[in-house]
Amino acid sequence: MPKSVYVLNGPNLNMLGQREPEIYGSESLDDIANRTKKHLKTLGFDCEFRQTNSEAELVNWIQEAGRDGAGLIINAAAYSHTSVAVRDALSAVAVPIIEVHLSNIFTREPFRHHSHVSAVAKGVICGLGAHGYLLAADALKELIS
Ligand code: DQA
Repeated sequence: MPKSVYVLNGPNLNMLGQREPEIYGSESLDDIANRTKKHLKTLGFDCEFRQTNSEAELVNWIQEAGRDGAGLIINAAAYSHTSVAVRDALSAVAVPIIEVHLSNIFTREPFRHHSHVSAVAKGVICGLGAHGYLLAADALKELIS
């Protein structure tokens, strides 16, 4: 049975396509999910692609990824900058983690320059739009095999 990569998305990413397209692009999260799933399949992985606006649900899914997944791609969105609970959940899982942001958080407001996720991720990809999810999948392929 193929191993699963979890792709977890945080708050407001359900609004992609409508939300500040000049920053986040015109693709919807469904478009990104389809592209990411297809790419992961070519790499030999199943994909659990999910989005939540709830911090508690995100923590529960990170724990699930640690139990049932082979790797984790996470765009924790605003929780990247605020959530010690998300960071602690990520620290507790043994699978490799790649952090993704669509926008380049370092060229934006100062409050976005720090991410609690980065310190516990194997790598960070930001500023490359939806393509970042595919690059994260490639990175996991290298880390897992
Ligand atoms: C984001 C960047 C965050 O600062 C922001 O809160 C988001 C999206 C990105 O993908 O560029 O919601 O994670």
